[in-house]
Amino acid sequence: MSPDVSVDSVRAMVWHGDRLALLDQRRLPLEEAWVDCADAPAVAAAIRDMVVRGAPAIGIAAAYGVALAARTGTDLGSAVATLGQARPTAINLHWALERMSRVAAAAGPDERAARLVREAETMHAEDLAANHTLGVAGAAEIDGPTGVLTHCNTGALATGGFGTALGVIRAGWADGRIDAVFMGETRPWLQGARLTAWELAREGIDGRVIVDGAAAALMASGRIGWVVVGADRVAANGDVANKIGTCGLAVLARHYGVRFMVAAPASTIDPATADGGSIPIETRPEDEVLAWAGQRVAPPDARAWNPVFDVTPAALIDVLVTEYGVLHNPDAAALARLQEGAADAVVQ
Ligand code: MRU
Repeated sequence: MSPDVSVDSVRAMVWHGDRLALLDQRRLPLEEAWVDCADAPAVAAAIRDMVVRGAPAIGIAAAYGVALAARTGTDLGSAVATLGQARPTAINLHWALERMSRVAAAAGPDERAARLVREAETMHAEDLAANHTLGVAGAAEIDGPTGVLTHCNTGALATGGFGTALGVIRAGWADGRIDAVFMGETRPWLQGARLTAWELAREGIDGRVIVDGAAAALMASGRIGWVVVGADRVAANGDVANKIGTCGLAVLARHYGVRFMVAAPASTIDPATADGGSIPIETRPEDEVLAWAGQRVAPPDARAWNPVFDVTPAALIDVLVTEYGVLHNPDAAALARLQEGAADAVVQ
């Protein structure tokens, strides 16, 4: 089934041959400003500082960063190390760097830069294609029309295009399975209120922002049939690290009889991490919680704890959708079959 591409207008990462242009996600939706990265340290800084964010987009940007290092004659080992330290939780970053390192090792010195550019472009195109496929497959699970709740931003901004959870929502909206989209504002960076709301408005999809604390009331109201979220890392047993608040949504969804879907490309699966307890969780500065738009809102002596991801146990996930298809009640055995690669590891 081919997706309805009429809802696929946003692109946030453009390769210009000698530089990577990134739509600055810190400034959206007030301003559509682009940041040019001409070398690997600039890409690493853009990832660290949240110019580009979202697991697949982080991986693709890092791949272009390696290509830039080769083009500018920088030592590839140190470029890969710098990029690899930019953010800790999204496994796509390491997946992309390992893939680029394998290509670099196999290429001769004269062809290396060109091959690395091609590989980054291929990864970018593959991610877009994966999202089209998983978006349609995930939407097909939704027996609508019904409303959905999503969290953070998992759209074109967070990926090579179309999005993962937001790809499911784009596809489900296009074919009438989804008739209302709610998004948690996603404190403290407001990826939901700023970025997902911006993407949905661009596509003409009707959406409503809720404060994160309104999720239980929304589920109790009967307005949504599904929660659809993305992932930063899927452990070998099916536990999922995603934006802080995701686990709480899964717990609530189980209580209220709302179904819970995780949408992610296979590049987000980390077979080397046994379970969610072993996933490194990024903690960001306290100021992100204690201040708002540069203005302190908490008392001077207040402290904060700011983990930016949490882990949803596999047992709370009804559906995991990747470009290989749909896993119901994902577990270690199903993920192992999927990792074996198979396109027929799919519908259970
Ligand atoms: O801190 P962020 O904005 O990079 O966190 C992003 C998320 O948690 C997304 O849900 C996840 O990366 C999937 S994006 C397709």
